[in-house]
Amino acid sequence: MVNYRYAIEIGGAYTKIYVKDCGLSLCEPTLVAAEPTPEGYKVLGLGLEAKKLMGKTVDAVEVFSPVTNGLIENFEYCQKLLEYLFAKVDFKKKRDNVMVIISCGLSEEEKRKYLNLLHSVGCKDVCLVPSIICTCIGAGKNISSTKTTMAVNIGGANTDIAVINMNSIVKGATLGVGGRAMDSAIAHTIAYNHGIVIGLGTAETLKNEVGSLFTNDSLNMEIAGVDIETKIPRAYIITSDDMYPVLEPYFAEILRAVEVTITSLAPEISTEIINSGVMFAGGVSQIAGLNDYLKKHFRFPYYIVDDADNVAILGAGKLLNDQTLLAKIVENF
Ligand SMILES: Nc1ncnc2c1ncn2[C@@H]1O[C@H](COP(=O)(O)OP(=O)(O)O)[C@@H](O)[C@H]1O
Ligand SMILES: [Mg+2]
Repeated sequence: MVNYRYAIEIGGAYTKIYVKDCGLSLCEPTLVAAEPTPEGYKVLGLGLEAKKLMGKTVDAVEVFSPVTNGLIENFEYCQKLLEYLFAKVDFKKKRDNVMVIISCGLSEEEKRKYLNLLHSVGCKDVCLVPSIICTCIGAGKNISSTKTTMAVNIGGANTDIAVINMNSIVKGATLGVGGRAMDSAIAHTIAYNHGIVIGLGTAETLKNEVGSLFTNDSLNMEIAGVDIETKIPRAYIITSDDMYPVLEPYFAEILRAVEVTITSLAPEISTEIINSGVMFAGGVSQIAGLNDYLKKHFRFPYYIVDDADNVAILGAGKLLNDQTLLAKIVENF
């Protein structure tokens, strides 16, 4: 078996790289900023540099994710982003063996695209591992056991839901619901209700700092936006109460999908899950009030993991040191 030195997650919000024996070494937005020129698009920034340009430049400059809902949407920009990010962690200028952690709902063709992408930026040996399995490993679960684990990872672009035992996914689903859709909804709602245009970066900050699933939370934050009518910058205070009706439907949708998955399982498996609880992870599960919301609206036992946004890449890091387990997971995927 090949000895893998790097693990990478090209997430809907962040790309993370784990280097064996070094740890989580990089986390930058999965973003590209580009400007159209007569010779084609010119890249102005990648990763963190692209995020800094969000909303700050002339209209023609686009800041976008080259990955949509876990799929490689723009191959060329993915290559540019990976080359840039690998250069940042590539201490020894040797990046031959890479493990890529991806969504569990991808077709064989989409998986091949990931292999081609990594090969095209100079990786020799590449293997694919479902990120939801890494989430379980990161949370300390024994995924080789016959005992079933159910995990839900609410990330930047999607929510992965999976039921896992004996090194493989018994049942898995991917929902196109994640933090970025919530950010867009926040920006639209503020424009509609308060007549102020804000950027997606501000909307994300609002979600993370003021967003809450407590019904009467008192968090608030002053934002700066542009008045739709006067076109003049205007400050406005947004409260958690403004955020709840925007965010809540996304969590309701996720819970519905999780419940549908559980109720479609064989009774031997679903009873195990009811005993052990459903694990929630992913950056968005750090939202204030999720625990309270689940208590009220989720019919099954549950728990939210620590380090929810990094648990998958940290699990992938552990796998880099367990070649035997890695071989079994790759074989079953
Ligand atoms: N406190 C928070 N509340 C709500 N969302 C959060 C919070 N912290 C981070 N996020 C969101 O989590 C998402 C990133 O989660 P992550 O699991 O790293 O995503 P991915 O792996 O899909 O890139 C982003 O949309 C980010 O805004
Ligand atoms: Mg992730």
